[in-house]
Amino acid sequence: MRVLVTGASGLIGSAVVAALAGRGDHVVALSRDPAKHRWPAGVEALAWDARSALPAVAADAAVNLAGEPVVGRRWTPAQRQRLRDSRLVATRRVVEWANGQRRPPALVSASASGYYGAKPEGPCRETRPPGEDFLARLVRDWEAEAAAAKGRLVVVRLGHVLSTRGGYLGQLLPFARRHLAGPIGDGRQAMAWVHIADVVGAVLWALDHDVSGPFNLVSPGAAGGDQRAFAGELGRVLGKPWQAPVPVLALHVRFGSGAGPIVAGGQDLRSDGLVAQGFAFRHRQLGPALQDLLSSGA
Ligand SMILES: NC(=O)c1ccc[n+]([C@@H]2O[C@H](COP(=O)([O-])OP(=O)(O)OC[C@H]3O[C@@H](n4cnc5c(N)ncnc54)[C@H](OP(=O)(O)O)[C@@H]3O)[C@@H](O)[C@H]2O)c1
Repeated sequence: MRVLVTGASGLIGSAVVAALAGRGDHVVALSRDPAKHRWPAGVEALAWDARSALPAVAADAAVNLAGEPVVGRRWTPAQRQRLRDSRLVATRRVVEWANGQRRPPALVSASASGYYGAKPEGPCRETRPPGEDFLARLVRDWEAEAAAAKGRLVVVRLGHVLSTRGGYLGQLLPFARRHLAGPIGDGRQAMAWVHIADVVGAVLWALDHDVSGPFNLVSPGAAGGDQRAFAGELGRVLGKPWQAPVPVLALHVRFGSGAGPIVAGGQDLRSDGLVAQGFAFRHRQLGPALQDLLSSGA
């Protein structure tokens, strides 16, 4: 299969590219600066700025992962625009490219748990309507861009993707090793986590199977779990069970009024939809999942 991947240099993208190349697919990896990254052997890395038309290449399928990081910079008006454009405009270009192919390719497009709002009450299944805050509206509009695809479409609403190489866990680990990663606030907010290997597995599964629609992509073991349990398990696995609680105010000061509530919030995503369609998660329990990540370095 020829698979085009946007956001190919990122945390998820690099793992997806490696898995596709590893099983013998031809990967066309798009990056704003392909020379800056090391690509697996055989990968065709092309430059694309996520605003213009895609390079004129043919592919049987595409994986759309581009997006400015949500947590990191303060959400100034310019940054909010970057967060939106790097997803909405990028996805519009991907869809234009896909719809222009002789046979529109299958598209697996990233989305996020923020679709449901920063801290919704109760379980979130795919049928639940979107939230109303800035990020929820952004994610809803991002999905709407992908929905214009004429080919088969799978949208994955990702929870916190766990990897030691970046993202939520990657950023938390240095603090947890210094006993500084205890529960956030009262720790009661839901914690939607998923092992990076299951994200890669689900993306490849979605490319290979005739499924479509939005799917929550979180571990089934995350259902009903909260941030306090997550912090406790991480401390236990690291052999540092005592972790200093993190005041919500500290997150607002560190991340600003935009991303702060995102870090302090959480959604109780349920992945029954994906399981009902036949996807088998490998990592269903948090402790063993964390152990696996720490020992494998994934
Ligand atoms: N990781 C998670 O826990 C998580 C959770 C929910 C949703 N998601 C979503 O899933 C997607 C992939 O996540 P990830 O963790 O792999 O993200 P990532 O590591 O930040 O990578 C995203 C990629 O997008 C490109 N990019 C970044 N800023 C951009 C900008 N301003 N304009 C155009 N392209 C830009 C970058 O590629 P180049 O620099 O090579 O162009 C980057 O490698 C993102 O859209 C993210 O929002 C991730």
